[in-house]
Amino acid sequence: MADTTVYRASTTAPVNIAVVKYWGKRDPKLNLPTNSSLSVTLSQADLRTLTTASCSATYPASEGDSLLLNGEPSDVSGARTQACFRELRARRAALEAADPSLPKLSTFPLRLVSENNFPTAAGLASSAAGFAALVRAVANLYELPASPSELSKIARQGSGSACRSLFGGYVAWRMGSAADGSDSMADQVAEAAHWPEMRALILVASAAKKGVSSTSGMQQTVATSGLFQERITRVVPENMERMEKAIAERDFAAFAEVTMRDSNSFHATCADTYPPIFYMNDVSRAAIRAVEAINAAAGRTIAAYTFDAGPNAVIYYLEKDTEAVVGTFYHVIGGEVEGWKRSVISGLKPTMSLDEG
Ligand code: DP6
Repeated sequence: MADTTVYRASTTAPVNIAVVKYWGKRDPKLNLPTNSSLSVTLSQADLRTLTTASCSATYPASEGDSLLLNGEPSDVSGARTQACFRELRARRAALEAADPSLPKLSTFPLRLVSENNFPTAAGLASSAAGFAALVRAVANLYELPASPSELSKIARQGSGSACRSLFGGYVAWRMGSAADGSDSMADQVAEAAHWPEMRALILVASAAKKGVSSTSGMQQTVATSGLFQERITRVVPENMERMEKAIAERDFAAFAEVTMRDSNSFHATCADTYPPIFYMNDVSRAAIRAVEAINAAAGRTIAAYTFDAGPNAVIYYLEKDTEAVVGTFYHVIGGEVEGWKRSVISGLKPTMSLDEG
């Protein structure tokens, strides 16, 4: 009898925000980076993608694979999504070859349904959580015996930063050296519970879609920036070492300094790209000054800023300093920059705990 079963699996994946940034590919096809990076995974209660994957022999082959993202059909023909599907299918096919009693799921069309619990319009990178959830949902559907690090190698091919969203807590993406990417994957540096007081405040400076995508921005930097060589050979290796030590010792001042210096270094290489790329705007720069004012008033470092490929700020701080950081932020920014207070409030819940995973 024909198999009419609809096989189904769901999963969620969190957003991560890098404190040592990935910027540059040594192999754009396999998404292999020019440097290692390190991120903090945010709470899934605040920011996550929920993805359900299903497949069935009853799904018409003529329709192929499909993805519904926040209720809208989304293109799956891109090389990155195709690479993820190909890798996942190959692993499933190997299981089916080894055990002929298994249903041939690898031959069925895939249907994916994905929802973010945060507004896409907030201008936050959603590709990391998106590809991590896609890969894990299909891996669950296919019952692949793959570790999070193994899955991170697949998610990496969807979007580099996605490999870090397969773990909670503090996560490193080791750049690796193999030409086939077999050693370029994520691992967990520390669980969220190791430093549970860590908090992140997201300040939405602009919900507009970014001008230069990460993918093309980093390609331009690799091709034209002289400063970039200094970053990947000296700055990042040092920052990775210092950051891992700061996390191991729960040394917030050190964590904060490396975070801010690395963000500054990344945006300096963007400015050194020819023609230059500017992700930060006047509102972003006001946030930097506000963090400096908060730290000066406290007489110690209690807040750290970081910016990705866009103007929004992520501020890291410890729970005990919530009042001084979040309270002062509202006061300083709200008083000085027209529109800030509104954007903070209209953005996302201001205080986020870290993911437990
Ligand atoms: C500035 O992971 O979005 O956020 O691999 O081309 O999809 P692709 O790039 P992506 O780049 C993220 C860049 C960053 C820094 C970081 O998250 O490490």
